[in-house]
Amino acid sequence: MKIFRIAATAFIALTPAAVTAGSADAKKGKRVYNNCKACHALKAGKNKVGPSLHSIMGRKAAIEPKFKYSKAMRNSGLTWDEETLRKYLKKPRAFLKGTRMSFAGIKKKKDMDNLIAYLKKASN
Ligand code: HEC
Repeated sequence: MKIFRIAATAFIALTPAAVTAGSADAKKGKRVYNNCKACHALKAGKNKVGPSLHSIMGRKAAIEPKFKYSKAMRNSGLTWDEETLRKYLKKPRAFLKGTRMSFAGIKKKKDMDNLIAYLKKASN
């Protein structure tokens, strides 16, 4: 029975974000991610204007060793998950006062849903 339960949990965890998040579409989210590309790479350790977003889902804030984060980010105590990313990316400077990320924010909920789906997929 226990084995069955573990298997069932693993199955849920592996269900594509597009299914669990209703109509969110990771492919469309990739296009929304174009807004981030100038400053962020998904490759591990590759920092640009912003830190690498490798495996960002579930990652603690400000852990890229070679990136010079703002004091606000270093002291934020945040862990990046769906909830914190939605809040930060909607209006970075309102959510985290003093952040150095100069990005206005994602306004449309649909774009945010799709972006989150893409970031989940990219973090796997
Ligand atoms: C103009 C450049 C720029 C753009 C565009 C930008 N960012 Fe950032 N981002 C930064 C900088 C700089 C930081 C570091 C902020 C700090 O230290 O306060 C950052 C930090 C982050 C962090 C925290 C990373 C960590 O290691 O804790 C996340 C998550 C993030 N950005 C996601 C995004 C996403 C997703 C987008 C697109 C929707 C985006 N950013 C667009 C420059 C940018």
